[in-house]
Amino acid sequence: METITKLIEFSSEISILEISYLIASILFILGLKKLSHPATARAGNLWAAAGMGGAILFTILFHKKEGEPIGNIIWIVIALAIGSFIGWYSSKKVKMTAMPQMVSIFNGMGGACAALISLMEFPKMQNHLASLPIPANNMLGGEGIAILLGLMIGGVSFAGSMIAFGKLDGRIGDFKHPILRIINLTFLVGLFVALALILFMKPVEGNNLPIYLFALAALIYGVTFVMPIGGADMPVVITLLNSFTGVAAAMGGFLYGNQAMLTGGILVGSSGTILTILMCKAMNRSLLNVIIGAFGVAGAAGTEDGDKTVKEISLSDAAVLLSYSQKIFIVPGYGLAVAQAQHLCHELDNLLASKGVEVKYAIHPVAGRMPGHMNVLLAEADVPYEKLVEMEDANNEMGNTDVVIVIGANDVVNPAAEDDPSSPIYGMPIIKALDAKNVIVMKRSMAAGYAAIPNNLFYHQKNRMLFGDAKATLQKLVAEIKSL
Ligand code: TAP
Repeated sequence: METITKLIEFSSEISILEISYLIASILFILGLKKLSHPATARAGNLWAAAGMGGAILFTILFHKKEGEPIGNIIWIVIALAIGSFIGWYSSKKVKMTAMPQMVSIFNGMGGACAALISLMEFPKMQNHLASLPIPANNMLGGEGIAILLGLMIGGVSFAGSMIAFGKLDGRIGDFKHPILRIINLTFLVGLFVALALILFMKPVEGNNLPIYLFALAALIYGVTFVMPIGGADMPVVITLLNSFTGVAAAMGGFLYGNQAMLTGGILVGSSGTILTILMCKAMNRSLLNVIIGAFGVAGAAGTEDGDKTVKEISLSDAAVLLSYSQKIFIVPGYGLAVAQAQHLCHELDNLLASKGVEVKYAIHPVAGRMPGHMNVLLAEADVPYEKLVEMEDANNEMGNTDVVIVIGANDVVNPAAEDDPSSPIYGMPIIKALDAKNVIVMKRSMAAGYAAIPNNLFYHQKNRMLFGDAKATLQKLVAEIKSL
């Protein structure tokens, strides 16, 4: 009778745990869905976090291994507290422009966790197989494959993310050498061969050297994989490494039969992959081209034909033109983030709106240096989401726009993407500023942007340059409009 009661208790706890994992998975999916729109993104984050929090809590309360509840509760709580504090503190402290660095560190931690799980579980599995009455002949099997793939992918993701962090933070430079391609290919093939060898190895208790060497090789490959990639390409690489981390975590979920971990890993893996593809598409580049690193290096193409005279506009003329317009599009770019001029930009937009001008923002998907960079930047300045118009829709409205104000953007408005087949950005979708009646470009100089190519928009007869730091220029422009 007692056994039956225990069995019922045990099975009911198992189903509570499984139901909690199902709920967590649903919350992850709904959270992810909400992340796709700025207005719901904050709630999406909370939903997914609630799913993760619930999954952790229920695991601590109800998970049992061979009938025994989870131990080391104090250590788990201490680790959770330290991790949560570091996450909370760094998210409060980090500057908006340093967000990609933070994402790469967090992503690296996920990869490290997945790799550590494998490093812990492999010796256990090996010792178990070796101690069977008839010891196993090899470690082949779902568990073995999940452990080794988790270790390999997690290790690459951790080491690669740390290098990506170093590059984005300006601590590590690019190291491009043709030899690295050979080294990388050798390492990649070597890792898969080693994985197969370990799987077919006869399990011997305490024989952990092969797995440690395998982990070391994965870490080295993570470093050599990211080292030659251009610093400015890091956001794309981070999303790729993000998808690696997701796959590595999914391996952990598979290993433990933990559905929440499995779903979470799959969602991170697939969304990271989709984002990588979308970013490459929006930049009109292949992933291979990003990995080999061809942008912004020697021989940047781009014709410089046409009228090479650059016309400037004075602040007072700009103020008059803007104040007497009916419809204006602001095209924000990386320079707006650098100048931290988003609040002034919003002030200008409010000021013009108070004069009856319709002001909207045309958002290019890869403006700035990270996905959603402009959305986040403008949200920080409380620009209403309804004012942000996606590229395709904005382009449809350009014909009846009086002025396009380009603030710190360059590549995303470069007409070479449409009319110069020799340009590296040819084929990349752009915001068609020239379809509007007038264009004003605010930037400090004639310097190129990320793609390191000239921009003929600046020389176009419709365009006027308003040189200077975006923040200082916007400040003066706002004052000028107020004084009209
Ligand atoms: P960019 O083409 O990089 O141009 C930014 C411009 O801002 C520069 O030409 C610079 O000119 C100007 N600028 C810099 N600091 C400024 C300041 N303080 N005040 C005023 N202007 C300033 O930027 P974009 O048009 O946003 O295009 C983004 C580029 O990054 C694309 O090529 C895209 O493919 C690439 N990329 C994007 C992402 C994501 S996910 N967003 C990821 C990787 C790469 P001056 O120096 O003359 O001022």
